[in-house]
Amino acid sequence: MGITQSVKNSVKLGSSTRLPYDPNEFPRETSRHYISADDKDIADMLKYIGLEDLDDLFSHIPSDVKFVTSPDIPDELNYNDTVEKLFQISQKTKLKTSFIGDTLPHWKKHPIVDFVSKLRPLSTSYTPYQPERSQGTLVSHWIYQCALSSLTGFEAINTSLYDRSAAIYEAITCAIRTNKKGSTVLLAETLFKCDIEVVKTLAEETSINFIMFPSNSKTGLLDYDWLKHLDKDDLSNISAFVFPQINSLGLLEDVDTLTNFSASNRIRSIASIDPILLGNGGLKPPTQFGSGGADFIVGEAQHLAIEPNFGGPGLGIFGCRHNENKNKDLRSTPGRYVGKAKDLNGRDCFVMVLSTREQHIRKEKATSNVCSNQAFLATLAGASLLAKGENGIRNSITDALHAKQSILSTIHKLEGIQEAFPETDSFNEIVLKSDFDIDELLKKASTCGLHIGIDVSDRIKGELDRKLIKLSFSDIHNAGSIDELKRFLEDTFPKKKNDTTEIHSFEISSKHLRKHDVDLPSFSYDELTQYYQKLAELNVSPDDGCYPLGSCTMKYNPLLNDWAASLPGFSVAHPQAPEVDIQGPLEVLFETQQWFKKITGLPGVTTQPVAGAQGELVGIKLFQAYHRSNKDFDRDIIFIPRSAHGTNFATAAMAGFNKSDSIVFLLADDNGMIDWDDFNTKLEKYKHRLCGVMITNPNTSGLFEEQFQKIASLVHAAGGLVYMDGANMNAIAGKVDLGKLGVDAVHNNLHKTWTIPHGGGGPGDAIVAVSEKLIDFLPGQQVVQKLDGSYSSKTPSKSIGSFHRNWGNFGHKVRAYSYLLRLGNKGVPRMSTIAVLSARYLQAKLSNYFPTLPSNSQSTPRMHEFILTLSDEDFAQLENAGIPKNKAIPQVGKLFLDFGFHAPTVAFPEVFGLMIEPTESYTKTELDRFASAVICIKEIIQEHPEVVKSAPHFTPIDRVDEVNANRNLTLFEKLDHLPSLHLNRINPSILNQLDVSEIKSRILESVKS
Ligand SMILES: Cc1ncc(COP(=O)(O)O)c(C=O)c1O
Repeated sequence: MGITQSVKNSVKLGSSTRLPYDPNEFPRETSRHYISADDKDIADMLKYIGLEDLDDLFSHIPSDVKFVTSPDIPDELNYNDTVEKLFQISQKTKLKTSFIGDTLPHWKKHPIVDFVSKLRPLSTSYTPYQPERSQGTLVSHWIYQCALSSLTGFEAINTSLYDRSAAIYEAITCAIRTNKKGSTVLLAETLFKCDIEVVKTLAEETSINFIMFPSNSKTGLLDYDWLKHLDKDDLSNISAFVFPQINSLGLLEDVDTLTNFSASNRIRSIASIDPILLGNGGLKPPTQFGSGGADFIVGEAQHLAIEPNFGGPGLGIFGCRHNENKNKDLRSTPGRYVGKAKDLNGRDCFVMVLSTREQHIRKEKATSNVCSNQAFLATLAGASLLAKGENGIRNSITDALHAKQSILSTIHKLEGIQEAFPETDSFNEIVLKSDFDIDELLKKASTCGLHIGIDVSDRIKGELDRKLIKLSFSDIHNAGSIDELKRFLEDTFPKKKNDTTEIHSFEISSKHLRKHDVDLPSFSYDELTQYYQKLAELNVSPDDGCYPLGSCTMKYNPLLNDWAASLPGFSVAHPQAPEVDIQGPLEVLFETQQWFKKITGLPGVTTQPVAGAQGELVGIKLFQAYHRSNKDFDRDIIFIPRSAHGTNFATAAMAGFNKSDSIVFLLADDNGMIDWDDFNTKLEKYKHRLCGVMITNPNTSGLFEEQFQKIASLVHAAGGLVYMDGANMNAIAGKVDLGKLGVDAVHNNLHKTWTIPHGGGGPGDAIVAVSEKLIDFLPGQQVVQKLDGSYSSKTPSKSIGSFHRNWGNFGHKVRAYSYLLRLGNKGVPRMSTIAVLSARYLQAKLSNYFPTLPSNSQSTPRMHEFILTLSDEDFAQLENAGIPKNKAIPQVGKLFLDFGFHAPTVAFPEVFGLMIEPTESYTKTELDRFASAVICIKEIIQEHPEVVKSAPHFTPIDRVDEVNANRNLTLFEKLDHLPSLHLNRINPSILNQLDVSEIKSRILESVKS
């Protein structure tokens, strides 16, 4: 689907032969700094709001927290130079025939993935909070849930968690909650070390403790005899047991024994699976483990959708049972689910269900802080599974097994290299032991164009001098790559003298294998492209006009970003490849670290967190580690303003601030800012116990917290630390120096300010910047530049651990870096300036028609967003028409859909508020048209309030009955056909072309008929 735009302010480019599209066809793409408003628009808007200079927009912000000059980052690059630079960096990656797989398998990407990735209303829309305008996203997630249910047998599949490690942690906390036995967790030592590290990092400062289940050096499996040594006391506290189906040595664990052991000791079993290996001809599904099946499944599904992308975006699998016999867990699980629903006219449709458990509703009582998740990966994985179907997956598995067997046949003829665990069943991976120094072997292979595998010598205890290497096989290995590997092995190891050419059996014990077919249909490429194209038409995209969802910063997402992220040097790079071969991705990460230090004014940066909420958790855990290292053990309280986003509370609770008094709410004053007296009283009371404060700035009312700096210095004086929720950086980036403001940690949501597409709910991404005090504690790895100019990585000296199995959502770092290159030192502050100007202009246009909230702050200048409400008269009109006050705002939100727009954020943070954020991406004409639509909505409320009740009118479906969908949960169905769709009654692209008054007439006509 092309992008329809009518933006006037674009610069004609010579087209680059490297690009698969002509940017000149997309005016927003070629506008300077991706700002569509031209100089005249800007001057006119400024005049309208009565200001003379753009700097006046920020005059209420104390000058001592502002940057004196633009941040010290490079000048902007023009479009074609950006293309060239990114291409050259990507070329620094040395892609080789790879058998690495391991923590992040690499399977063939189906062509449907590229097709769906380009459907902008699917890739750029937000979380489907308005189901009537988001059926495209919802159906695509439904398909993912159903396909995964077919493969795994699990009835409730979450859509979706960040990655496998996060899913393991969420399953653990869920098991502890539902089991009510205690907080001890048994962890298999044969899980991936990177997953264990993340889980332990997340559990720090909580009540969870771990018992490690050791492995057996002879078999390479868990040491099953060890279970006999667990006494009754040990067993009575264990709530959950996490184990893999295929362990980190590629060996098949005895999942029956492990599941039965769990069930007989009232321990919830959490099985880590690989979904692709559960296809026909593959492994036994987790519902058939032991006599009753596993309780939870976790795993990674990134490889169902995309290539390694240097580690991410990933896609965490999380599933639980939901049938007559087992249904207690679902309401205690994290994240998002899509359920079947009906609209008010009985049409079948889909809606997000169970969202009352989520952080925005339950705040500190939420079961997890996950907000933006990996949604778009779920869309892609679902499409990919339907395109492959059960036969396609069977073929992929057959190819992988064939490749493995072919290499094993060669190995068996060679001296000096052999299977390390010949008596243990494996599937598509092998571990070899060699007399050769593994490092030398890997280097030698690399010079021959091969990444032959991973050194796994340290994954099993005992026989310390054992040298082990693991090779993973998949359907990317064709005859050519197999021959390459064979040749290398034959050149490196001598042939056995007395080659008995005995025929080896590669049989895998049937107890590990699937017995019945999956029942997953396949659809042709053409059928699927037509279907997903239709799905895209059911959504709207910020490409097509103002997407006013406040606090979500729905700005234009450049095509250039996606092109850069798709360059093979970035998308195919494996995070475990040798450092010399992954210089391209390391350079992007290094540059991103450096740029964000300058943009924020803070000296330390981690690029690891994968969403804003995870950034918050990183920040709070840094605070805890800092206090711990100062032997300051009594800081058990965190201050959060009551108006904060739900993730702030959920994050604090997740970090261990979950006792009844550990979160202290800060009150807002009449102007919507932190109440100074209340803050001082609470500080005085809790100063010796204060760990830190979390403040959103600009806050969720769109106001700059003018006392921020003073609050920060008082918190510091009390020994606490200051977290700034930077979700609203689009208002202040390049203008406010967070170092001067007194910030110790801040997250930047890349999917907001830094133009990463929202993907229908994710992947999000976050970069956390920190003050000097916290640098040594940063998580994951820091990328450093060596004297010779090359890049390497190092772990900070007191690191708090890791939040991701690899480098976070690397693909998104490429996108953000690509955007930054186009912005440069002038573009960053200009972006925020025009975002604020657009919001002030719109607010000024609408303020004669709608009151603004908070009601006492009419004269306080807004930043990038503002909150409208209805007048008492309007509420009364609606009430007379049968819409009670508490339902009025969400219902008015539905009228926006009739005008071809998405709705503003409804009823958050003010229950009676409509939060509007226009961003800097639109021309004055586009903003004017949006304003006319909002004014027309006012007219409709006054003249025809009954119309509001039946809104929306032109979406494919009427208002969805969410209550019923939640009461009668249907989370999967056998997919024997593509879900049937209702089409738009009037397409948003047509609505976009119509006069607002014409739309009003059509609404009224549609109600009459
Ligand atoms: C103010 C604020 N803080 C935190 C978050 C959480 O960020 P994420 O969705 O990336 O986890 C959001 C997301 O909507 C937000 O608006």
